[in-house]
Amino acid sequence: MSAQAKHTVTGGEVTSPPTVEVWDVFVRLFHWSLVATFAIAFVSADEWEKLHNWAGYAALGLVSTRLVWGLIGTRHARFSSFVRAPAATLAYLRDMMRGSEKRYLGHNPAGALMILALLAGIAGLGLTGWMMTLDAYWQDEWLEEVHEALANGMLVLIALHIAGVVIASIRHGENLMRAMITGHKAVDR
Ligand code: HEM
Ligand code: HEM
Repeated sequence: MSAQAKHTVTGGEVTSPPTVEVWDVFVRLFHWSLVATFAIAFVSADEWEKLHNWAGYAALGLVSTRLVWGLIGTRHARFSSFVRAPAATLAYLRDMMRGSEKRYLGHNPAGALMILALLAGIAGLGLTGWMMTLDAYWQDEWLEEVHEALANGMLVLIALHIAGVVIASIRHGENLMRAMITGHKAVDR
């Protein structure tokens, strides 16, 4: 972990509120590569089959490596640090409704649940996409429908994910999207 300087003025003096690396380089590269591969797979779905399959498998590969990193990675990347019991997630959502939810340095409980849903969605898309290429399921319409429904469901989840990022950023006065680029967040807020 490393500390970084930021400038604020207290009593005429320039001080540096401590920041800390929360998202390691793997998590950041994983996140923005996942965004890119999902977007490419989505827009190429109708017309560019080869590109579509390539981007879909790449997204699946990213998610598989993230699952491993969730077991052996740095502190805030580990599932054990952010996957919480349903009761804790419900309590967090209740606090959110009241506008009194606490700030987390890593993923908050609602964000963590969304992350699991997003990872599962990509895994489901990869699996159904691959199944469609097998002789056993050749031209099975139900499979194509499940694949398409998963893709559209992902759009809804992604919209909620981004809304959650924006809401949490406003509530706690920090730019979470920037943190997913730089990796750093203020220790206290
Ligand atoms: C295809 C679209 C997207 C997908 C599939 C996606 C997926 C994910 C996943 C899986 C994580 C967990 C990261 C990890 O721990 O490894 C995450 C976190 C995050 N994403 Fe996205 N994301 C998408 C788009 C975006 C966009 C457009 C933004 C910017 C507004 C964004 C901002 C963030 C932030 C800030 C976090 C960290 C949340 C926190 O502070 O707890 N994501 N996203
Ligand atoms: C991020 C992952 C993926 C997303 C977002 C995605 C999205 C989509 C969407 C929206 C469609 C419907 C296109 C239409 O309207 O006809 C589609 C179709 C299809 N996808 Fe995927 N997909 C993904 C991964 C994969 C993978 C890994 C494969 C396997 C190689 C795959 C194979 C196919 C096939 C064969 C079709 C049917 C194309 C057709 O005959 O119309 N997809 N996908």
